Amino acid sequence: MTASTSPVRLAVLASGGGSNLQAILDHFESLGDERAAEVVLVASDRAEAGALAKARANHVTTAVIVKPADGPALVRLLEMHRTQCIALAGYLKFVPAEVTAHWHGRIVNIHPALLPKFGGAGMYGRRVHAAVIAAGEKESGATVHHVDGEFDRGGVIAQERVPVEAGDTPESLAARVLVAEHHLYPRTIQALAVKLSTSH
Ligand code: GAR
Repeated sequence: MTASTSPVRLAVLASGGGSNLQAILDHFESLGDERAAEVVLVASDRAEAGALAKARANHVTTAVIVKPADGPALVRLLEMHRTQCIALAGYLKFVPAEVTAHWHGRIVNIHPALLPKFGGAGMYGRRVHAAVIAAGEKESGATVHHVDGEFDRGGVIAQERVPVEAGDTPESLAARVLVAEHHLYPRTIQALAVKLSTSH
């Protein structure tokens, strides 16, 4: 980033522990002036989400999404923080059409499998990894994709592969995939933010 370009304002939506959020914050911190985005808001549908605690510990503004299905309210919240780009990081609620339309091309998600396989409604966390093992897959991984009106169906932006090893449990596979997520997601967001900040 040059001194004259401000980082893209990124909001992160999360429901869980927030390890991907932490990876994003750490990566931007390590990039210093080269970072193309900055996290300006972390919002969660769960007031007790670890992601909110991590955001507070990193001095990032937080919000609780009281009615996740209320699209206009979520647009208002995101607009209030002048959000330019959105990253879902373990956000388990459906994102209303008002939001995906408003931030079209600027809202992304990370999924813990190689989409288009093992995605869709109800496919999150342990269930994804259990399904991958049950299907006898030889590899799994992380996928970053655009978010549109359907769960896990937007265009794939980037993937990182990991092997499925003999004797893997959903937990051991999840841990291996999570390492790939933490590597892939911050770098993909940085690349997207660079693109957004040079496209106008
Ligand atoms: C991550 O593994 C992410 O890929 C997954 O939730 C976890 C959140 O972990 N998301 C999905 O399954 C979405 N379908 P985190 O809160 O530690 O980042």
